[in-house]
Amino acid sequence: MSTPQTVSPPSAPTLAPPPAPRKLRRREVANLIAHLGEKDLLRTFSRLPGDAGLLYLKVAGPPVVFIRDPEHARQVLVTNQDNYLKGNDYKILAVLLGRGLLTNFDLPLWQRQRKLVQPLFAKRHLAPMATHMTAATESWLDSGAWQADRDGAVDVNAAMMALTLDVVCRALFGTTADAATTKTVGRSMDTLLTAAQKNLSFSSVYDVVSQAPKVKYDSLLTLRRVHWNRAQKAKAALDEIVYGLIDGRQRGSVDDADDLLALLLAARDDDGSSMDRELVRDEVMTFLGAGHETTANALTWLWLCLSRNPAARRRMEEEVDEVLQGRVPTFEDADRLPWTSACLQEAMRLYPPVPAFTRVAGGPDEIDGVKIPRGSDIIIATSLMHRNPRLWENPEGFDPERFMPGASSAVGRPRLAFMPFGAGRRICVGQGFALMEGVLLASMITQRLRLDLMPGAVIRNDVAITLRPRDGMPMQITPR
Ligand code: HEM
Repeated sequence: MSTPQTVSPPSAPTLAPPPAPRKLRRREVANLIAHLGEKDLLRTFSRLPGDAGLLYLKVAGPPVVFIRDPEHARQVLVTNQDNYLKGNDYKILAVLLGRGLLTNFDLPLWQRQRKLVQPLFAKRHLAPMATHMTAATESWLDSGAWQADRDGAVDVNAAMMALTLDVVCRALFGTTADAATTKTVGRSMDTLLTAAQKNLSFSSVYDVVSQAPKVKYDSLLTLRRVHWNRAQKAKAALDEIVYGLIDGRQRGSVDDADDLLALLLAARDDDGSSMDRELVRDEVMTFLGAGHETTANALTWLWLCLSRNPAARRRMEEEVDEVLQGRVPTFEDADRLPWTSACLQEAMRLYPPVPAFTRVAGGPDEIDGVKIPRGSDIIIATSLMHRNPRLWENPEGFDPERFMPGASSAVGRPRLAFMPFGAGRRICVGQGFALMEGVLLASMITQRLRLDLMPGAVIRNDVAITLRPRDGMPMQITPR
């Protein structure tokens, strides 16, 4: 009698280990610096030489480390996350946004806040959020609010900014923020984030927290101060609006509103305590800062990818028409549009709205044989990870199939190879909100419109914390 043979399931292909880390040479650093001025971050980053998963640069003091491999990122963000603090650039944002989750450096307070805030984004709360999202999109589509120039070009990036701002304001404040308030919020937040970005570039010449110059460099500091003064005014305008809305709610009934502000005010810790007024303000500012431009840019790059890939766009139009049959999508529909969702994720792979984020080593560590002394700056370069040829076949191509349920190409790929929302305990708290928003907005716009890149338009990218097209996204919008 022959012994029965055991049939093992097909095993995942094993991925070769990342090529060894290496130090950047003087000439390579000079080349990088020379190209920083071209203001195209993806191109500048792609000039990082070789294929090492980790590159480091040592000029004076602790090294600057670029990570473009998920194995190394995992150590920083997950397995040894206790050793890594948010990078210094977050301190600049903290001056403007306060102690909201994104910029909170106080670990016990962050943990308490995360526990209070995370449930706000649970599935049961996302359903009313979906209604705010579709209502905002419907009124945007009905109003035909986008402005075409004389050549018929619409800046789709500006249009997506306006739309996602309306979404986040409705999600936060329900019907209590009128159109004029939303406009002021958008303008002020833009000023604030621009100032933060300008200050990032100057973080080496002055101390962010004390605002005291480290180096005397008058022209830079004057320019910085101009932005800073504008930011202070914008912050005051936002404070007035946000505190006004908080106080209004506290005077009236909190329980019947179905928006994030009501949920923030109603959130209770295990001991029954709630957030104080200032913390509620900080979380509101953080949602406005973190949750509007990111999604607008994700959608903007999606329209570019679809315009350049008509077959993928056709399939998305067919899916949307078949599933929605011309009606407004609901919360449940977000899960019934797999191709639309795959297109959105593939666009975020190629153009991650947060193309890089930072940490600083709180103590010594060693990553893949490289000593990481205390104080090392770590740059998690998501945009490079997402195009790493070791992890992605045809990394530069737009291929939504990779994100379809059960895609064979995903087998064996490390989870962190795709991390538009970060990883570990500081992972984006608004991930579910953002993905649902992206799918609902994209499907509603696709129902009615087709967006084509203007012939001859050259798209370069720029980074103002998020990755956005440098000179807008000129597109022709035609009804379907
Ligand atoms: C496509 C849209 C979005 C992208 C790509 C994105 C990306 C990210 C990333 C990469 C982080 C982690 C940063 C780090 O670890 O240093 C983050 C954190 C965060 N995001 Fe998002 N985000 C998006 C939408 C949103 C939305 C809609 C909200 C809220 C309404 C939001 C709120 C936050 C908050 C509060 C944090 C800090 C979490 C913590 O540290 O506990 N984001 N986001």
